[in-house]
Amino acid sequence: MNETPLIEARAITKSFPGTLALDKVDFQLMPGEIHALVGENGAGKSTLMLVMAGVYQPDSGELLVSGQPVKIRDPQEAQVLGISTVFQDLALAPMMSVAENVFTNSQPVNKVGFVRFHDMYKATAEALKDFDVKINPQTPLYLYNVAVQQIVEIARAIQRNAKILIFDEPTSAIGERETERLFNCLQQLREQGLGIIYVSHKLDEVFAISDRVTVLKDGKLVGTVKTSETNKDAIVHMMVGRELNRLYPQRDGGRREPVLEVKNLSGHRYSDVHLTVHSGEILCLFGLTGSGRTELAQGIFGNEPISGGEILVENKPVQIRHPSDAMELGMAYIPEDRKRDGLFLEKTLRENIVVTCLRALSGLVFINPARQEAKARESITTLQIRASSIEQRVTSLSGGNQQKVMFAKWLARNPKLLIADEPTRGIDVGAKAEVHTLLRQLANQGAAVLLISSELPEIMGMNDRTAVMREGRVVGILDHIEATQERIAAFALGTYEDEKLPRVEDRL
Ligand SMILES: Nc1ncnc2c1ncn2[C@@H]1O[C@H](COP(=O)(O)OP(=O)(O)OP(=O)(O)O)[C@@H](O)[C@H]1O
Ligand SMILES: [Mg+2]
Repeated sequence: MNETPLIEARAITKSFPGTLALDKVDFQLMPGEIHALVGENGAGKSTLMLVMAGVYQPDSGELLVSGQPVKIRDPQEAQVLGISTVFQDLALAPMMSVAENVFTNSQPVNKVGFVRFHDMYKATAEALKDFDVKINPQTPLYLYNVAVQQIVEIARAIQRNAKILIFDEPTSAIGERETERLFNCLQQLREQGLGIIYVSHKLDEVFAISDRVTVLKDGKLVGTVKTSETNKDAIVHMMVGRELNRLYPQRDGGRREPVLEVKNLSGHRYSDVHLTVHSGEILCLFGLTGSGRTELAQGIFGNEPISGGEILVENKPVQIRHPSDAMELGMAYIPEDRKRDGLFLEKTLRENIVVTCLRALSGLVFINPARQEAKARESITTLQIRASSIEQRVTSLSGGNQQKVMFAKWLARNPKLLIADEPTRGIDVGAKAEVHTLLRQLANQGAAVLLISSELPEIMGMNDRTAVMREGRVVGILDHIEATQERIAAFALGTYEDEKLPRVEDRL
């Protein structure tokens, strides 16, 4: 290729206190190319993207856009150069409407400078049309779940007519259908000659969409290869530097007493839900985006009020009005959106991990710093959290490492019931296997686990039973051997009919 790269990084170095995040990294993006960027949590992917987006200044090295050396001092300059970024952590304004978010800084105005809302709403509806989700451009964004927010962020980048599009884990929160739409969209943009950088932990996606793959490890470039000339095992090897055992942990199948029962439970976006989770069991909950899975979890844990029905914990009816009630009953909840519900970003790793088990560790009154520290260190080791010290603030950890901190925080509490909403999202291949093992251990020790997942392979590997939700209802409950990918998908889409399977009501 003797074309000029759209953007090129030469020997970019960037350090943070205690961390060399990028060490002389070279990178090139060609016109009409989808270039995947992969690596373990903390490898430096987001940092490289943020340097190209003008958010961070490199310590040394050079950036060239269309062959010209440039300094990108801030995100506005990046935008002027045609670089648009969909960040890993959403950068949206939650109180503003969907349309205002799509058109940030570029709202259509009339002659005297007033925003032409009608045009903006129409254009927004147009931009979102391809994603086939029901989104009202006038609704404030915070009323939608992460999936929708992510789609809005993508629509905004496309709306800006960028030449270089950077996606940092764009599908971490969206379902399969939206991912497929996004891919169609990316392929069109590629044909128009745009360059796309695609950061992802989902290697299936990397192989489905990219032309080349660049691998980073510990801030260093491992290599760049053509996607058609490599395979997943080779990429994983480049990422982690060793062979990985990617088998799911062994099930022991010992399901015991009911820990959580919900009967006729109704609330925002779900109704008449019946479910039982037993000790020793991992019950997987599958459903398409918008099927009500997260809302149901929020209702059970007391984050959102329920409007009817009953919750029983160990056979006793309970009232859960607030998450503290749920925690009192031995429940733990790893939410889908770590920014919004899960972590105290300005606090340190130690404070975050210890906060949910303060009472257990402090011997009622005193907080024992030594024990706090021991607990935090233990979690860092088991989950391989990459941090410069346990006093590092969570906001400066890489995205995947923040997710691990959240997991650590709840595991430290030894819950009776764990509700985990997409716990492996954004986590690298090695750590993912760790999380799976920990979930299975927790169940083997007698806890009940409700695992919400959008990844069918994860469900196949982890489920003792699988419940499928559609349009706010549980439409199917399958035993491990019945739970084939086809069946689960058919239940989720509403296309499944099989007289031989017992009805949902008969197998609670
Ligand atoms: N603002 C910051 N202050 C201190 N350290 C930081 C800061 N931003 C990133 N780091 C550190 O730099 C390293 C690289 O982080 P980066 O976010 O680029 O990783 P990543 O490859 O995107 O990981 P992930 O897959 O988890 O998103 C990490 O060790 C992280 O803790
Ligand atoms: Mg990242």
